[in-house]
Amino acid sequence: MPVPVLTIDGPSGAGKGTVSRLAAKRLGWHYLDSGAIYRALGLAAVQAGLDLHDSAGVCGVAAEMQLHFDCGDVFTVRLNGLDVTTQLAGETAGKNASLIAADPAVRQALFQKQMDFRRPPGLVADGRDMGSVVFPDAAYKVFLTASSEQRALRRYKQLKEKGIDANLIQIRSEIEQRDQRDRERAVAPLVAPEGALYLDSSDLSIEQALESVLNLVRGD
Ligand code: DC
Repeated sequence: MPVPVLTIDGPSGAGKGTVSRLAAKRLGWHYLDSGAIYRALGLAAVQAGLDLHDSAGVCGVAAEMQLHFDCGDVFTVRLNGLDVTTQLAGETAGKNASLIAADPAVRQALFQKQMDFRRPPGLVADGRDMGSVVFPDAAYKVFLTASSEQRALRRYKQLKEKGIDANLIQIRSEIEQRDQRDRERAVAPLVAPEGALYLDSSDLSIEQALESVLNLVRGD
């Protein structure tokens, strides 16, 4: 029996991270935050002094970097032994991730790292191409989206809560630019995978979105 996978794809700020983490907890499954892998690689490449368009250089960093995720009460990411959770949360990290993510060689370099998360009893995978490219055979697929106004507002509140300085108008414009790049790139663009449950969370609470996702897995 293949290990069951629930994929949750969608644009940034749609609530994917929160819904995916809660779903993983409720199901007792593992959790893959693929965006954090791209963000961590972007950060590692910047730390190495690389131009983010240096494909071979960025792929070299991908092969070397040591990433550890802790999905306990607080989700933390360690890059080469150091906690980089806060550094990865900002829009600069998101933009850098989106830039390197448009490179097919970089996506290939990160492919196996993402596949390795598929372990019993199951996996909730959060990203842009989880259901379309990385786990096309996933038993359950969700496309979670929301209006760009709502997504910007949520991101703004998240950053404020973390004590990170933020500007709502700027966030919305950055989110829209990042969406455009993620949707229009030639390789593994952000798309609703075939057969996915399409969920617009603009007017839904986290609990309501989570229930719809869990109902899909339970077959309700
Ligand atoms: O989900 P996120 O905001 O942390 O993702 C950051 C960027 O990484 C996103 O703008 C595009 C890229 N990404 C990707 O291309 N494929 C994924 N599966 C996840 C993220």
